[in-house]
Amino acid sequence: MTAQPSARGDVAVVVPAAGAGVRLGPGGPKALRLLDGEPLLVHAIRRIAASPSVAMIVVAAPPPDVDAVRTLLAQIAPVTVVAGGAERQESVAAALAAVPPALPIVLVHDAARCLTPVAVFERVAAAVRDGADAVIPVLPVVDTIKEVSAEGTVLGTVDRAVLRAVQTPQGFRADVLRAAHAAAADSHTDDAGAVEKLGRSVHCVPGSDLALKITRPIDLAVAAHLLTLPPEQS
Ligand code: CTP
Ligand code: MG
Repeated sequence: MTAQPSARGDVAVVVPAAGAGVRLGPGGPKALRLLDGEPLLVHAIRRIAASPSVAMIVVAAPPPDVDAVRTLLAQIAPVTVVAGGAERQESVAAALAAVPPALPIVLVHDAARCLTPVAVFERVAAAVRDGADAVIPVLPVVDTIKEVSAEGTVLGTVDRAVLRAVQTPQGFRADVLRAAHAAAADSHTDDAGAVEKLGRSVHCVPGSDLALKITRPIDLAVAAHLLTLPPEQS
């Protein structure tokens, strides 16, 4: 397929933001928890809306908070808000259903990776535009990884050189993502995993340290520090 690096406005971003944030501790849904005085979701939407490829944003919000999220985001960018589901993949499916068929590329991006730079959205979108069915941003694994038995005995050391940690946004040809979701019988934490099960290939591009997933309280502290650093492009 011919590369079309100048094509713009051909991307819908689906943002699962309906999780409870159990690992973050008490304090309400994670996407609405504050970082530097603003909800994580607001940080995420600002960066998505600043990405030149993006034509549409669909957020899956916690069902009780749909109206509040709609009001909150109306001040930030044009966003469609739908009710999420009990599992992440249900939230993604609900948001995907609101994406019109005319948009050829869909990115799925966790609200919890709220500091992901614009450059990552553009990198992932460009790789789909260049012909990949599915694209994931990845980082090398820095820790040594061991396989361990239930009793705590080391069974072996995995070759770290072939491992990658996977982030979002994950990008897809829209028809491939719809087919993967339609075919997914079991639960998956990763949309690219559903595409792999279809037997389609998934392409890797560089991720970013700024795309960390806010999961535990220490991640919020790290994110707050990252916001004090000079702007980063990648
Ligand atoms: N998510 C969602 N719907 C769900 C569960 C998760 O939209 N039913 C979203 C979260 O809001 C988050 C992303 O999926 O943006 C990744 O999930 P995770 O980091 O696990 O967030 P939570 O599920 O909220 O956190 P926890 O697992 O600690 O409860
Ligand atoms: Mg979760």
